[in-house]
Amino acid sequence: MASFYTIRFDGEKVSMLDQRLLPEQEIYYSYTDYKEVATAIKEMIIRGAPAIGIAAAFGIALGAKNIETLDKEEFKTKFDEILDEFAKTRPTAVNLFWAINRMKRTFYESPCLSLNEIKDELVLKAKRIYEEDVLTCKKIGENGEALIKDGYSILTHCNAGALATSEFGTALSVIRAAHKKGKKINVYADETRPYLQGARLTAWELNKDGIPVTVICDNMAGYLMSQRKVDFIVVGADRIAANGDTANKIGTYSLAVLAKYHNIPFYIAAPLSTFDFNIQSGVDIPIEERPATEITHFAGKRLVPEGVNVYNPSFDVTPAELITGIITEKGVVKPAEVKRLKPV
Ligand code: MRU
Repeated sequence: MASFYTIRFDGEKVSMLDQRLLPEQEIYYSYTDYKEVATAIKEMIIRGAPAIGIAAAFGIALGAKNIETLDKEEFKTKFDEILDEFAKTRPTAVNLFWAINRMKRTFYESPCLSLNEIKDELVLKAKRIYEEDVLTCKKIGENGEALIKDGYSILTHCNAGALATSEFGTALSVIRAAHKKGKKINVYADETRPYLQGARLTAWELNKDGIPVTVICDNMAGYLMSQRKVDFIVVGADRIAANGDTANKIGTYSLAVLAKYHNIPFYIAAPLSTFDFNIQSGVDIPIEERPATEITHFAGKRLVPEGVNVYNPSFDVTPAELITGIITEKGVVKPAEVKRLKPV
C-alpha cells in the first residue's frame, strides 16, 4: 500500500493529489462538481493514461448523480453533455475514451432501470473501473518481474507509476515487483522535459518506496547506454495500435532507437485498456500538442526569448519493430501478437 493516494471517490466527491505541485507539496483537492474533475484532467492535476480514465469515470458518475431531473430524455441530454466534456480533455490516452465508453454503455444498456438506479449503477461502475485497475497493475508487475535480473539497472521515462494509475503503476509496477522479490536494482529516471514527470513524479514515488533511483537529463540516456550502464528499459503507454505501434511520452521513440543500436531490451508495460484495436498503426494516433509556455517558461521564469517559435508535441510513436515486448495483465506479448489480445 503506497503512503499516498492518487485518486479516490466516495460516491459524493472525487479527491485527488495535485501532481503539478510535487515533489514540493502534497496537496489533495476534493471536487463535488464534474466540471472541476474535467478541468483537473485538462490541467494535469492528474495525468497518466489509466489515471485519466479513472478520473473521467469518477467524474461522469459524479456528474450523473447531480443531474436534477425526473425526465429520462432530459437526463440523457445532460448525461451526453458530461461525456462530451470529458472527451475533450486530453486526446492521446485511449484509456480516457475506453472509460467514457464503459460509463456510456452502463447508461444505455439499462433501459429498464429508474434514474436513481442508473445513478447508483454508474457510481458502482466507476468504482469497479478503479478496482479493476488495481488488480491489473498488480498483475502487470507480476508478469514483468521475471524479465528483471538481480543487479539490473533499469531506465524508465516519464511517470508510469502509482501516480499515473490507481496504485502500483504499469512500468513502475514491474520495478516494484522486482524490488519486492529482493532483486537489487537501480532505476534511472529520465527527467522528461518539458513537464518533468520523471524528475518530479517517478523519483518522488520510487524514493518514497525506498527503491534506488537516479535522475538523469533526457539527453544523457544515450551516453549511459554506450557505457553499458543500462540493462533494461521499461516505459508505459498512452495508446497501442493494432500493429503494436505505441504512443507514449515525447522522448520514448528516441530511447527505443538508442536501445536498438545498443542492443538493450525495450519493453512497454500497459493494461488492455491502453490498446486501440480500431487504429491499425501509429500513424492514426492523435498526438496532443501542449501550450508553448511549458517550454518557454520554468517556475515562472522565461527560458526562451520572446517571439521565438516553440513546438510542443506531448507524445511520440514508437514503431512496433523497436519494441521487444509488451507487458500486460494477460502476459508478455510480442508487438506482432497484439491482435491476439483483442477482446472477442
Ligand atoms: O502527459 P502525461 O503525464 O499524462 O503522460 C503520461 C505518459 O506518457 C505515461 O507514460 C503513460 O500515460 C502511461 S501511465 C501508466
